Amino acid sequence: MLELEGINAGYGDLEILRGVSLKIERGDIVGLLGANNAGKSTLVNCISRIVPWRIGSCTFEGADISRLEPHEVTERGISQVPEGRQLFPAMTVWENLVLGSFPGKARAQRAQRMEYVFNLFPRLSERKSQAAGTLSGGEQQMLAIGRALMSGPKLLILDEPSLGLSPKFVQTIFTALAALHREGLTILLVEQNLNVTLRNVQRCYVLERGEIVISGRSEDMRDDPAVKRAYLGA
Ligand SMILES: Nc1ncnc2c1ncn2[C@@H]1O[C@H](COP(=O)(O)OP(=O)(O)OP(=O)(O)O)[C@@H](O)[C@H]1O
Ligand SMILES: [Mg+2]
Repeated sequence: MLELEGINAGYGDLEILRGVSLKIERGDIVGLLGANNAGKSTLVNCISRIVPWRIGSCTFEGADISRLEPHEVTERGISQVPEGRQLFPAMTVWENLVLGSFPGKARAQRAQRMEYVFNLFPRLSERKSQAAGTLSGGEQQMLAIGRALMSGPKLLILDEPSLGLSPKFVQTIFTALAALHREGLTILLVEQNLNVTLRNVQRCYVLERGEIVISGRSEDMRDDPAVKRAYLGA
């Protein structure tokens, strides 16, 4: 479904990603692990076309997406839940969700998508008139995921959704992701939470200082000391 081949990217003269290749099959749930500053957000922002890359290619459903604008990537079916959620705090839950339904054909399906999100996270339904900024951290993460689902994506990318959440909310988020995956959604999950991620994804990539150093089935990685080393950035 998605294939990155030899991506080099960075900011100005600063090179962050070097020769990154990665493949996601339709229906996969894939993890991307790495320490702080490994380049995880840079990598997913390349896929979303927020960060342009210098060398390499990226194809989605067989089509080259290297010249698309970020909104065109969303219209093709890739939706990202950004690091730090990036909600509009003064706007209500409902308004934040509506903002997720602008790309392409999503607007016509707004009511159905909204209902779908409220079924997935009933808590959001109870709070739909509340300002997003007054939600708890866990509720805000639910809203960020809900907003990304409003465009009706085929591939959902989440950048550290469990960051700063209590174990109970981490569980809520992972349970929702498992349900989405069962329904056929393809998921790329960026995480630093090593154990939870390896328990919940099928395959995993480990990024260390801008390079993919390990990849494979998560069940084979659980006891691999090299994974822990790369993850700790040692
Ligand atoms: N807009 C930017 N301009 C310049 N440098 C940047 C920019 N964004 C990120 N960087 C640098 O790129 C490197 C990788 O950052 P990135 O955010 O991709 O890492 P990360 O793996 O997502 O880290 P974290 O786990 O802390 O979110 C860091 O050294 C960071 O300072
Ligand atoms: Mg990051």
